[in-house]
Amino acid sequence: MNKISIIGAGTMGHSIALTVAWRHLSAHIYAVDEKEVERATGSLRKKVNTLVQYGLLTGEESTQLLQRVRFTTSLVDCLKGTEFIIEAVPENLGIKKELYRLVETLIPPHVPIASNTSGIPTSPLSSEMLYPERFIITHFWNPAHLIPLVEVVPGKATSEETVKQTMEVLALLDKKAVLVKKEVPGFIGNRLQFALLREAQYLLREGVASKEDIDLAVTHSIGRRLPVTGPLMSADFTGLDVAYAISEYLYKDLCNDTKPAADMTQFLEKNQLGIKSGQGFYLWHEEDIDEIDKRREQLLIEFLKLDAQKGSGKHEG
Ligand SMILES: NC(=O)c1ccc[n+]([C@@H]2O[C@H](COP(=O)([O-])OP(=O)(O)OC[C@H]3O[C@@H](n4cnc5c(N)ncnc54)[C@H](O)[C@@H]3O)[C@@H](O)[C@H]2O)c1
Repeated sequence: MNKISIIGAGTMGHSIALTVAWRHLSAHIYAVDEKEVERATGSLRKKVNTLVQYGLLTGEESTQLLQRVRFTTSLVDCLKGTEFIIEAVPENLGIKKELYRLVETLIPPHVPIASNTSGIPTSPLSSEMLYPERFIITHFWNPAHLIPLVEVVPGKATSEETVKQTMEVLALLDKKAVLVKKEVPGFIGNRLQFALLREAQYLLREGVASKEDIDLAVTHSIGRRLPVTGPLMSADFTGLDVAYAISEYLYKDLCNDTKPAADMTQFLEKNQLGIKSGQGFYLWHEEDIDEIDKRREQLLIEFLKLDAQKGSGKHEG
């Protein structure tokens, strides 16, 4: 494997490119214009500097890494001679489908195309492709260079060969790949994450606790255990008799909204989008965002160091 192409130079595109280059592969990334190249280059350099600061790269390694990332505003150049394509354009079915139609005119039929969609199932995305057997989902998590998991979601038309090639690429990238066997929206991670968000919003709406205390109740309890035991293993540790007894009275009381909550709609109407607009559940100042970002990055790096001690990139058990 020599060249991996990434389409889209936003939040995910540049951190996936960093993942690729960190593993000594060549990352060719397509950006829509020069302004985007400039922004993504700045974000990439900042992330690489942090890796140097925490001892995951030497200064010389970081220079070499940056040389392995090539930005281009030409899709043709980005895809020339490529062996694997990762798409990271906006979460919009129409934009993604139109892009695949164009990309397929520029590459040979055997080159896999992997989408980084957060949760759109595979088959609708590939429904108008000439060669849907080459299409698959690889859902990286943000920031892609620090979060080990990638969900791999083949569709009905995806070939065994594409699945095999994808798993090989993710092994080269030292990622923990999980194979999602059914095309469910949101895959595994986002289904679980949004179940938690729905309940957290419900607790807030019902006045059960303040937003700060709801967040604290997660970060300082289940959040502390989850890096070691996932929900099913946690239940084993709790004792299934106890988990059964709790499920019996609790499930019927949990939020089961089937639409985004009204408060979420109100946030959107007021353009309160979270950190990107300065207001969401919380009021945000630049320095607070930077501080939390740094703390999160630092902790994720510590996890990576622990993974490396254990021998990362492999499934245990
Ligand atoms: N941000 C996250 O936390 C996250 C995590 C996992 C997956 N994802 C998914 O990854 C994908 C990208 O998300 P993001 O957060 O990087 O979005 P983003 O908005 O930061 O970046 C998308 C980029 O695609 C570019 N773009 C738009 N139309 C394009 C086109 N036709 N061709 C090429 N480039 C085009 C935009 O200019 C932008 O730079 C989405 O499907 C998203 O759901 C996002």
